[in-house]
Order: sequence, then C-alpha cells, then structure tokens
Amino acid sequence: MQHKGPIGVFDSGYGGLTVFKEIYKRLPQYEYVYLGDNARVPYGNRSFETVYEYTKECVFKLFEQGCNLVILACNTASAKALRSIQQQDLPAGKKVLGVIRPTTENIHLFTKSNKVGILATQGTVLSNSYKMEISKMHPEIEVFQQACPFWVPLVENNEIHGEGAHFFVKKDIEELLAKSPDMDTLVLACTHYPLLLPLIEQYTPPHIHILAQGDLVAKSLVDYFKRHPEVEQACSKGNSLKFFTTDDPLDFEQKANIFFGKPIKAEKLEVVRGI
Ligand code: DGL
Repeated sequence: MQHKGPIGVFDSGYGGLTVFKEIYKRLPQYEYVYLGDNARVPYGNRSFETVYEYTKECVFKLFEQGCNLVILACNTASAKALRSIQQQDLPAGKKVLGVIRPTTENIHLFTKSNKVGILATQGTVLSNSYKMEISKMHPEIEVFQQACPFWVPLVENNEIHGEGAHFFVKKDIEELLAKSPDMDTLVLACTHYPLLLPLIEQYTPPHIHILAQGDLVAKSLVDYFKRHPEVEQACSKGNSLKFFTTDDPLDFEQKANIFFGKPIKAEKLEVVRGI
C-alpha cells in the first residue's frame, strides 16, 4: 500500500497562499506542505521551457517531501507546465492538479453576457489556455485577455498601496474593458492578484463581477476527492502546515502573513544547487 503524504501546494512565490488559504479553510484535516519558488519569481514572463523546468523541479521536491498530490496554485505553471508534467513526468501513484480547470468549469455560473475578461501574466495570456479551455467547455462564452506584467512584482515587493500599483491596475483594467463593452466578469487569473483586490475594485465598474480563484479551487478539490477516493486516501491527515521557500525564510514569514492571513514559520528548501 502507498505511504500517505501531505498535500503539496506550489507557486512561484507568495500568490499561491491566496489559494492555499481557501483550501485549508475547506479541508483543514489534512497535512500540507507549501513551496514558494521566491528565488526565481516571477515566472510570468519566462519561456515555456523555463517555466516547465522550474515547475518540474519544485514538484519533484514536493514529492521528496512525501507528497502524493501536488496542487499548482499558479496559473502560469498550470498553463505552461501542468500538461507536460502530467503526460511525461509523473511517477506511479503521484498526481498534479492545476487552477485553470476549476475556474473554467465554473465560469458560466458568473457571466450573463457571455463576455469574460481574463487578467493574467504574460505567460498565461500567451499560452491561450483560458481561451482554449473555456471555448471547449462553454463555446458560447467569448474571452478577452489582458497581460498585466507589473502586477506580480508589485505584489511580491509589497507595493500594493503605492502610486505605481494604482497606475498599472487602472491602465490594465481600462485596456481590458475597452476590448468589449459587454464584459460582465473579470477573472483574476493569477494567484497574486487577490492582494490587489481593493485597487481592482476601485477601477472596475460595480456591475462587473470580479472572480478570484481560491474558493473555486478549494471546492473543486473537495469534489475531486469524492470522485477519486484513492487519491484522498493517499493524503495524510493531521492538520499540520509546513512552509518552504527557495529564498529567505524570514522575508517569507513576514510577507506570507499578509497573503495567508496568519503568522507562519518558514524554512528554506534548496530545489537545485544554489537555489
Ligand atoms: N502567481 C502566479 C500565477 O498565478 C504567477 C506569478 C509569476 O509571474 O511568477 O500565474
């Protein structure tokens, strides 16, 4: 019988904590290990090959920690690496899930005009993953995309209240909304963006629904466990949380507090030599 192990949650940095927070709220009974690749963030403007390599290295580090299930709480990694890892790299008994499917599966519940805007990193936009997945599941929905290359650095550097954040959030939302007057739903298709929510709300007309992914991903994991009891049974229980970063743990602890909503202890994990 397979050894049980904690659920791994991965992001290029802190953003995945916004998803992890919601997973932990719904499923507090499991053991979890979070890994943020803060030393190499952002992933959003890197090539397909680089995001794939970095993500694969981190996922395998989480497997080494005993995880049998890893959630890529990162849209860029889900868009550029998930499928290749699932198809080519998974050892027997290991599973990796992403955040794009839970969002696209539920998008029709939020839009009435069938015009949806995607705010995401350059990598996610260029991959066209949202466009393709949504058109497969809901061909009636039209998707408009906007790359927001400055939003992740603003969040990672805790510049979320500064003038720069106001400037770029306003500019990117205006550019996206100019693509269709009927858009009624905006997806925060990057796990870092919920931290900018007060600004995003400020620059989005009130009739437009702003959709963060955390709760959708958490609900979909609950559902996945029902459909795949063998994966659920491979996840250890014990309500414990471990946080790893590839960069400075003290820095991680300070900022993670903002993302996760409560104080945490972090340790450094070397994923490749020197990082
Ligand atoms: N949080 C990641 C996402 O959801 C991206 C951050 C980055 O650019 O590294 O796409």
